[in-house]
Amino acid sequence: MKEKKQNNILELFKPYVPKAVTSRILEGKGSLPSERSEATIVFIDIRGFTNLADQLDPEKATEIINNIFEPIVGLIDKYGGSINKFLGDGLMAIFGAPFSHEDDPERAARASLEIMKSIEENGKIKIGNEVKSLKASIGINTGLCISGEIGSASRKEFTVIGDTVNLASRLQANATPGKIFIGEKTFQRIKSNFIISSPRKLKIKGKKDLVSAYTLKGEKKRISLFERKKKYYSPFIGREKELKILREALKKSYQSKGQTIEISGELGIGKSRLIYELTKESLTKEFNILSSNCSSWEESKPYAPLKGIFTKIFGIKFDDELKEIDRKIENKIKKIDSSLLFASSYFSRLLSSKIKSLEEIMEQSKEESNLFIRVVKKLLLKYSSQKPLLIIIEDVQWIDDASAEFFIQSSKELKKYPILFICSLRESLKKRESIAGSKRIKLLPLKNAESDKLIRFLIKKNDIYQLMKDKIISTANGNPLFIEEIVRGIEEKRLSVDKDRLGNYPEMFADFQIPDTVQSIARARIDLLPVGLKEILYQASVLGRYIEISLFQRITNLQNKALLDLLKKLQKHEFIEEVEAAPQLQRYFAFNHSLIQEIAYNSLLFKTRRSLHNKIGSVLEKMYSSKIDAKVEELAYHFKNSDDNEKAVFYLNKAGDKAQFIYAFKNAINYYLDSIKILESTELEKEQLTQLSEICNRLAFSQATLGKRKEAEINLNKALKYCRKTKDKDNESLILMSMGNLYGDMGQWDKAIEYFQNCLSITDKISNLKRKASILKGIGLACLFKGDTSTGYSYLKESINICKEIKTLDVYAMALNNIGIYYDMLGRWKKAIEAYKESLSIAKKIKNIIVISNIMNNIGFAYSSLGESKQAIYYLKESIKIADKIGDIYNKGINYIHLGEEYLKKDEFTEVKYYIFHAEKIFDELDDKLGLADIYRLKAKLLKKLKRWKDSEIFFKKAIKIYSKFGDKINEGESYYELGDMSFLKKDVDLARKRLIKSKKILGSIGARKHLGEIEEKLNNLKK
Ligand SMILES: Nc1ncnc2c1ncn2[C@@H]1O[C@H](COP(=O)(O)OP(=O)(O)OP(=O)(O)O)[C@@H](O)[C@H]1O
Ligand SMILES: [Mg+2]
Repeated sequence: MKEKKQNNILELFKPYVPKAVTSRILEGKGSLPSERSEATIVFIDIRGFTNLADQLDPEKATEIINNIFEPIVGLIDKYGGSINKFLGDGLMAIFGAPFSHEDDPERAARASLEIMKSIEENGKIKIGNEVKSLKASIGINTGLCISGEIGSASRKEFTVIGDTVNLASRLQANATPGKIFIGEKTFQRIKSNFIISSPRKLKIKGKKDLVSAYTLKGEKKRISLFERKKKYYSPFIGREKELKILREALKKSYQSKGQTIEISGELGIGKSRLIYELTKESLTKEFNILSSNCSSWEESKPYAPLKGIFTKIFGIKFDDELKEIDRKIENKIKKIDSSLLFASSYFSRLLSSKIKSLEEIMEQSKEESNLFIRVVKKLLLKYSSQKPLLIIIEDVQWIDDASAEFFIQSSKELKKYPILFICSLRESLKKRESIAGSKRIKLLPLKNAESDKLIRFLIKKNDIYQLMKDKIISTANGNPLFIEEIVRGIEEKRLSVDKDRLGNYPEMFADFQIPDTVQSIARARIDLLPVGLKEILYQASVLGRYIEISLFQRITNLQNKALLDLLKKLQKHEFIEEVEAAPQLQRYFAFNHSLIQEIAYNSLLFKTRRSLHNKIGSVLEKMYSSKIDAKVEELAYHFKNSDDNEKAVFYLNKAGDKAQFIYAFKNAINYYLDSIKILESTELEKEQLTQLSEICNRLAFSQATLGKRKEAEINLNKALKYCRKTKDKDNESLILMSMGNLYGDMGQWDKAIEYFQNCLSITDKISNLKRKASILKGIGLACLFKGDTSTGYSYLKESINICKEIKTLDVYAMALNNIGIYYDMLGRWKKAIEAYKESLSIAKKIKNIIVISNIMNNIGFAYSSLGESKQAIYYLKESIKIADKIGDIYNKGINYIHLGEEYLKKDEFTEVKYYIFHAEKIFDELDDKLGLADIYRLKAKLLKKLKRWKDSEIFFKKAIKIYSKFGDKINEGESYYELGDMSFLKKDVDLARKRLIKSKKILGSIGARKHLGEIEEKLNNLKK
């Protein structure tokens, strides 16, 4: 009986089985040569199927077989595999022999996942009153096999044999029902596109070592627009030249000559399509493709496209817990470059949407924000050593500020890496500078002949083509999107009237007006939709380009099925399309083209728009209540466009805070400004005043960090004004502290001290010890710089005592560092070194790498002053090592200069020249003018020592010009001092005096007393 059933199955599927094989045999004229090749083998077993079939009557059994096996066979066929044999309750399929595809493992995996799903759907069998659910177990393995014909001349059979096959079968035997086990090699080949759980070790008969079995869970969600393997509506026409440029860039990048390409052109001209065509090149298989889009509603979201890219690199999913995110980040960094592990916290910041208070953020130093970008960049560059990278950022006309800066910075450095960076943008909306050094491709309209070709393809009815083509060509002006939309419009028209006119096209299209913009033709097409459907399209447009079904369902209040039906209809009309997603993830649709979304959105009444935004915001709040921080930018966007001011302000502020925490200060500023604008337009009660003063303070922090000190000052004064109306002491003390910090940054020590003092008296009242320690540290440093060294020292001591008491290590380390500076100023370098070293050990404990490298520098200087050159050089070089490790080339350059100065002291000129040369290269690359000024000054000093007075003078002046332009008074003053000294050496007394006085004036204006003494001495010498 059992045998008979099996024959039944065989009989039923005979037409499928030999398909791949027979065609191959035909090609080889009757025989298949044996060969060794890689193949992926799939074993599928439907547990207990034959037994079950035995209990049923034959007719019923056949029906079940049809229901279950037919889809399986179809699916294997669909993915280009072939069924090799039926085995009891299951079968064995081969992907890769006799035909191979470059992605056989992926095909096998996709087929298997779909087979699982199909069995789940069709495998419910009713026997009597009982429903049995059939489940399959599947094993997949990839590896070397020997394939060919086995058997005698009269009964030949194509098959594959080898260890790979045996292991696939064993994997299947070990998989519990419902599970797909895959072997190591399959895992390696498919891991980037599938969700796979960590391996289990299996003991397998006949194998000495344990074997890894991974569970294949699903396909990764891909929502990048072109990666969804969209089947484009039309064949690709023209653009040979452009594609050639891209291909060449791809080749060059492959040879580690990184390239940046910017593709620009108007809406719908074919930018995305061109990029898509490039990704079909076979060489792109050798690349990791990282792609992301910018969008108009994410313009303010910090690092929106960058997050997309790193989420992909680290394999992070939306519902991953914080711990899981950190684990993934660490594991991946270990694989890419373990010396960057120290920076994993930066990535976890970027990807895990944490939000911190202003006071916590105020402790971040400015260097840290530079470092953040450098580290992220370095990791990306390093990642390319695993596999070349193709980075695609689409629609950069909408890129956010932080990402823009990041990509501009990175593209400068990728020339030595196997990276091709492509971005696309709409010319007319361009707001930014192009990336320097990028190749630009500007897409022009298609030529008439090309348009014609496209139209010819799109219009299937020859008479309509003849009738309309000239009209289309002249109206569409070579814009392929326009052409497509017109043709769609024609098709809609034909379908709506053809019944009556029976193909009388000339009559039908006699009055067919083609609107003269692509917008209006698309709008006309939307207008043809039945009311209910149009409504849905409009509502969906408020969500943006992507339509997440579960979210949209709550907006429309429709039943799931009803909504899906409507969306499917819209898909049929080619307005939207479904985006591939793994089965267990949310389902998504996306607008076919942003044009449709834009038009639909713009057609909504303002009132409707605002209420929809409100609704979306509220639904998002509920849906993501436990992960709300991850959605604050979306919420800010929707509420900002709704009538709910309160919520808009709330989320805009959150989004601003979040941006600050990942150093995206420009983005933060935009959020805060939006929020202030809303608040100031409402009535100001106490609550609003408090909010306003807090936001102004945060806004000022971001502005100050970006060097916009005047604006920061204005906003801090505003903050103070609002705050004093509310009498909120805590807030007031925080604002005063910000003001102290700001004036300190500006070198206005007296003012800084005044604000710190005010702040201190309030802070004492509210007894916030940590803040007090911070302020004392600030006053201390300000006093030191002002020249009030002993007062400074006592403040610093007091700060340290508090730190010890409440055990705040970060402030402690910095205060100790400042004590070192104090001793440095007094010329007590040994004591200074002692303090620095103590500070260093704390910084190491809290692993603050920036503070560590700062202190190392300071120790280096102190040793240098002490005349212990060897130690000085040791510490400076250590600091360079850290800089190298973290990819901080700026600091590396600075330290090169310091080393140069040190060697200059020792008259080792070759070394000096060496460091000048390398530092100059770095600052040239960074295009950092102040760094270059430092180098000029060092050159000048060198030339001065060599008594090449004229040349020396030229370089001093070059340096001074830059210092003065950037308002760097200390260095400007010092340079004048050096110049004066040179004149002094040349015995040009008048000029020496003039220059020294100038130096005195400049340094005096910022209260730099340390130098003033020396100048006074020189001037006195002159008198003699
Ligand atoms: N060379 C071409 N041959 C055939 N069809 C094309 C060609 N270029 C573009 N198209 C089609 O035109 C439509 C619009 O192209 P695409 O989406 O690439 O435009 P885009 O420039 O990226 O527009 P946007 O600025 O909105 O992003 C697509 O459906 C695309 O398939
Ligand atoms: Mg595009």
